[in-house]
Amino acid sequence: MNEINKLISGFFEPPIRDYIDKIPSGKQLRSRLICAIAKESDKRFLLSAIVETIHLASLLHDDIIDDAKTRRGAPAVFVTDGAKKAIMIGDIFYATAFSKLSAFDSAIAQIISEAVAKLSYGEFLDAELSKSFNTDRKKYENMIYLKTSALIEASCEAAAILAGKDRDRFRRFGALLGVAFQTIDDLLDITQDTATLGKPALNDLSEGKVTLPLIDYYHTADENEKAKALSFFKKKLKTNDAKRLRAALYKSGAIDKSRQYAAALLNEAKGLVENDEELLAAAESLISRIK
Ligand code: FPP
Ligand code: MG
Repeated sequence: MNEINKLISGFFEPPIRDYIDKIPSGKQLRSRLICAIAKESDKRFLLSAIVETIHLASLLHDDIIDDAKTRRGAPAVFVTDGAKKAIMIGDIFYATAFSKLSAFDSAIAQIISEAVAKLSYGEFLDAELSKSFNTDRKKYENMIYLKTSALIEASCEAAAILAGKDRDRFRRFGALLGVAFQTIDDLLDITQDTATLGKPALNDLSEGKVTLPLIDYYHTADENEKAKALSFFKKKLKTNDAKRLRAALYKSGAIDKSRQYAAALLNEAKGLVENDEELLAAAESLISRIK
């Protein structure tokens, strides 16, 4: 178990601790960034553990909101233990993480808590946008900035403060990476097959989430194609319909447009950390996910 996972486990007593062990570990992008930016700080692992615990709490709640039955290849906690427990465990994770923030300067505590307010609002907007077929690119971009990028942005800025580095530069780096990360996640939902994803392909549209490639496709589509896309909204897609829609998204150029958007964000991010091999590698690892 790595240093960060040990700290997270140490935040809790059984039976709550058991849930930490039950949830498979993710990519820990936020921790990787914090540890790379604040290499010299003794507090980098504690800050990482706090941020990962907040992230875990948000995922426990998010799976209930999205009715997403698997997480990281395992059944979601609300599936194995029921929604009531998953909500309460999320609350315990979230509140405990916050209590640990008191070990940091108020500037860091403020940055992280503001980011959690943003991600909660982002989740609210995501649910609101999912009520109808959203075709407004600006609304979508704002929502993914809040839902996903804000905590990554805050992690980078807080780590820069810990390390005495230029906080504005690292804040921007994190914000760019965050939006790129969600854009790539949304692309993979369309481009990867069910076996690789561990969930049905084009699942976002079935959940009511009209992501960037679909928004761009909609704006170039003819009336027939628009009607077809609308008819798939919040429906479980048949294999053939999914294949046809995916092919149409490729043909319209919408997939390429999203790929280029994510790549441009990551290139801008790389320009901010030119001499830092670890941070460049973090950006590169996201670029390599653009498929
Ligand atoms: C995943 O998005 C969801 C988030 C990044 C944020 C979720 C936020 C909340 C539930 C509110 C905050 C709550 C607490 C307790 C801090 P996604 O559904 O697009 O991604 P996925 O495919 O990984 O589920
Ligand atoms: Mg979700």
